[in-house]
Order: sequence, then structure tokens, then C-alpha cells
Amino acid sequence: MIDDVTNKYMEKTYRSYEIYKEISKYIPGGVGSQVRWFSPYPFYIERGDGAWIWDVDGNAYIDYVMAWGPLLFGHARPKSVLEALKKQIDNGLVYGIPNTIKLEVAKLIRSMVPCAESIKFCNTGTEAVMYAVRIARAYTRRRKILKFEGVFHGYSSEVWVSVTPQIDRVGPYETPNPVPGSEGIVEDYARSIVVSHWNDVDHFKRKIRENREDLAAVLIAPVNTGSGVLPPAEGFLEEIREETEKYGVPLIFDEVITGFRLSKGGAQEYYRVIPDIAVYGKILGGGLPIGAVCGKEEYMRVTDPKNPRCAVAGTFTTNPLTMAAAHAVLKEIEANSDLYSKLNSMTEKFVGKLKDAFTSRNINVFIGHVGSIFQIYFTDKEIRNYRDTAQISKDMYRAFFMSLLIRGVFTSHSPYGRWYTSTSHTWREYDETIDKVEDALNDLKYLR
Ligand SMILES: Cc1ncc(COP(=O)(O)O)c(C=O)c1O
Repeated sequence: MIDDVTNKYMEKTYRSYEIYKEISKYIPGGVGSQVRWFSPYPFYIERGDGAWIWDVDGNAYIDYVMAWGPLLFGHARPKSVLEALKKQIDNGLVYGIPNTIKLEVAKLIRSMVPCAESIKFCNTGTEAVMYAVRIARAYTRRRKILKFEGVFHGYSSEVWVSVTPQIDRVGPYETPNPVPGSEGIVEDYARSIVVSHWNDVDHFKRKIRENREDLAAVLIAPVNTGSGVLPPAEGFLEEIREETEKYGVPLIFDEVITGFRLSKGGAQEYYRVIPDIAVYGKILGGGLPIGAVCGKEEYMRVTDPKNPRCAVAGTFTTNPLTMAAAHAVLKEIEANSDLYSKLNSMTEKFVGKLKDAFTSRNINVFIGHVGSIFQIYFTDKEIRNYRDTAQISKDMYRAFFMSLLIRGVFTSHSPYGRWYTSTSHTWREYDETIDKVEDALNDLKYLR
């Protein structure tokens, strides 16, 4: 069956195939970010509008990847971001001298994000995590970082550890190995990571107690979006906050996905747990590259260039185009007080209907969901952490992804990815998606 759908995909995407062959001569794998590649080859996009994208062969897709997170309002939305960019273009693209737009952006962030007493900008979420870790190390003068197995924090060598490790390398449950995510990551980086388990408070308590003298920070994404979508169990984040306070270890929230998505104050507002430092990216840039480290003043002070203990810099940092887009997107969020309640409740109903489509065909799935992100796991068990994902059916997932793709619904090709909805998705798109999911599942039931 997977061969049939793959063949159909190849019939529909011939122009993409030609381009793929040509680009691969110059760019390994034919893609920029490696996560965009899937077998047999990715399709190439021509344009996007709201919840829809069109590829170079003219196929239309309802998009649930949404650029992997930044597009809260959909493609080429909101119009205010496009207007702000057009206006800024005529005044210059990058200056290398401080501009004033960042003041307005910083004020808006502070008004929305509880821990954001002080803010430093950069260009990506990866950089923002790298700086947050550096700030915590400079502040505490300690070395180690505690992170959770299966949780992703961007691609810097320091934290690209134990994200999706091969299950035969993870080590015993009680003493998980820090497993580098790539060749080329020096062992010292992996050795600086203490690994704990998602949603296992007791394990976390043992690890923080054992390592308290050496820990510069506890780094956590408040929703585990590295293993699909695994929300925190009740009390998990609260206990982490309590323990980090007890031992004087700074708590960093990686809100690159949850920031401005779960609520205007991100996961820290949604779950009412305030970290010492939080990092942002994606939505904040309104579609342009951005990263931001926000934190309590006492931590952020180490980046003050008058007395620099911790360098944060870069040619494109706070460039006026990104700042103009960020300003417009934050104004849009500020002006739409029911944005999140509407988006989250519509997504919840949509997820409920998806669940029904599986249940009525006796196909076992576990759906991890919060707000406007979710992921479907093909399993009859509950998924609590990364190790549980070892028993999901990756063949079913791949067949499902491909079956939807040939019907014009684009979701994450990776079982560790997620579906994103946006304010551009309406019941027109959701109903059409449900029809296509039902159709795809009728094919899929022969796989079991
Ligand atoms: C939780 C999390 N942190 C950090 C990053 C890295 O952000 P960027 O891709 O902007 O470097 C990502 C990217 O998906 C992410 O999901």
C-alpha cells in the first residue's frame, strides 16, 4: 500500500522531482533545513495563502506544518506585517547602528510575558537557547545543564543531545546516557548534560539533588514538542519550579514553539509557572527569522555591554525588518483579545472529530494535544515520554502521512513533528481535512 501512495505522489509531483534532482547537485539532499527532507523527495513550494500552499506542479494542500510553527496567522498574514515590511524596506534593510523599533517590541513583550523584565534579541531559536545557557553559566559560574530526554532545543552542539537518540543507546532508565544527536559534537558537550525523563518528577528530583553543585540551569520546553506533542502532566512544571528554587538553579523555559502560541504570555502564562529565563523565536518574528532571550533582570544583567560577562551579539541582531515584523505581529496579538480562546477551542473540536474518525474504524491512536498543536501516534498505549515512542508504528505513520499528502493535506512527515493550526484555518479546511482523513484511513486499515 505504501508503494501505491508513493507512486501516486511521484505522479503528482514530477516537476518537484526534476527540481529535486537539479538542486541536489548543489545542495546536499536538495533541502535547506534537513528536517524538510522526506522519502522519496520533498515537493517544492510556489506560494502560500492563509491555510493553503501550492507546489510547483500546481497541487494545492491544506497546510498543517505552517513553516514548523511561526505562522500563527497563516501564510502571508496578517496583512499588517506585510505593510510594516513594505514600509521599512524603503528606509533601509540593515544598519549596524541601534534602531528604535526594538524599544516598542521590547515594551510589548514585557507587557505580555511574565518573566520578561529584560530582553536580548538574536536571529533564531537555536541562538536564543545557546545564549540563555551561556547567561545561566555566566551567572552561576557552573557548567552542567539538566535537560529532558526527547526534548528538542535547536541545533547548537551544546544541547543537541538526547533529542531522538536510538533506543539501543539511551542507557538504563535511572541513569540515561547523554547521546549526541550528530557526529561532530565533541564529547565534552554531551558530558555537560544531565538527562532526566519527561513527566517523571521523582526522577527529576533525584537528578537535581545529585547534581545541584554543578548545575548552571534546568532547561525545559514546557510542552515536549521534540517527541511530537506531550503536554506536561499536572504538577510537573510546578514541581520543577519548586525544586529549582530550592537548590538555587536557574530555570530556563524554551518557548520557541509555545511562545505566543498557547497564549500571549506563552506556556508560562498558560500553565502559571514563571521561569527565570525564557527563550522565544518563530511566531515572534511574524515570518522573519528571530530569537529572543527574556529573563529576570538579575540574570540578564550579565549581558550588559558596559560590564560584559556574557557576550550576545551579531550583524543581523535587531535588524529593522525583523523588528518591524515583530512589532506588527505583537500589535495584532494585543488587539485580538479572543484570538487564543477561539483558536484553541476550534482546534480542540477539530482534534475531537479526528479522534472519532480513528475510533469509528477501530484504529488505535494516542493524540497528544494542547492549544493549537497536536500529534497523532499510532499505538494502543498512552505515550508519556520519549521511550514510549519506541512502540509507535512508524510504518502506519508514514502511510498516513503519504495518503494525506496525495489527497492535498500536508502534515509533518516525522512522527516526532506536529500539526499546527492557525487563525486562517476555518471549518471549511477542517471539514475538508476530516473527509480526507476518513478516506485515507479507509486505505490504511489494510495495513494493520
Ligand atoms: C523547542 C524548540 N527550541 C528551539 C528551536 C530552534 O529554533 P530555530 O529553528 O529558530 O533555530 C526549535 C525549532 O523548531 C524548537 O522547536
